[in-house]
Amino acid sequence: MISLRARLSREEVLGASERIQEKLFDLPEFVAARVVSSYVAKKENGEVETEGLIRESLKMGKRVVVPFVQGAGELSFCELKDYDSELEPGAFGILEPKSSNRREFPLREIELMVVPGVAFDLDGYRLGYGRGYYDRALRRVSSENPKALFVGLAHDFQVLDELPRGKADVPVDVIITEKRMIFPK
Ligand SMILES: Nc1ncnc2c1ncn2[C@@H]1O[C@H](COP(=O)(O)OP(=O)(O)O)[C@@H](O)[C@H]1O
Ligand SMILES: [Mg+2]
Repeated sequence: MISLRARLSREEVLGASERIQEKLFDLPEFVAARVVSSYVAKKENGEVETEGLIRESLKMGKRVVVPFVQGAGELSFCELKDYDSELEPGAFGILEPKSSNRREFPLREIELMVVPGVAFDLDGYRLGYGRGYYDRALRRVSSENPKALFVGLAHDFQVLDELPRGKADVPVDVIITEKRMIFPK
């Protein structure tokens, strides 16, 4: 999955990401959300781009919260107000809020969370890079705000019928690809 994704051209990634963004913006929970969280996509690996959705969400007047890796390997979340001036490369070469303006954002205020994945299955389970960052983060967010909606973004080929799953894996509520929206039960 990682190598299939990395083989996509930038044009393919941006085309798919645009269609995915349109579907996200049609989702009633997104329209209603005042506070959304999103991963910041890494440009080199072909994952669904989120720069556009973050910029547009800010223009819509939503508050946008992005993750950064804290110390021992926990994801923390920080509000982002300006995409151009507030990010710098952090852990794993992913853009993160600059250390100077990192302030932990209260997880209970996050209403919708856009999450990445290496693969998803039709029940909403996701495979990450094997470090469990999002499993732990999603668990913390849902305990602080049980109503938070988790939305996984993926290229359509990243969605499989069924993935291996463990007790720590937390499924998403919606998967959006360039071809479909999947609502696992
Ligand atoms: N909520 C959690 N609490 C404690 N450990 C966790 C939690 N979620 C995942 N882990 C641990 O992190 C490691 C990686 O998790 P895994 O689900 O394989 O990663 P990923 O979802 O990133 O592919 C596993 O050893 C798993 O037991
Ligand atoms: Mg997992």
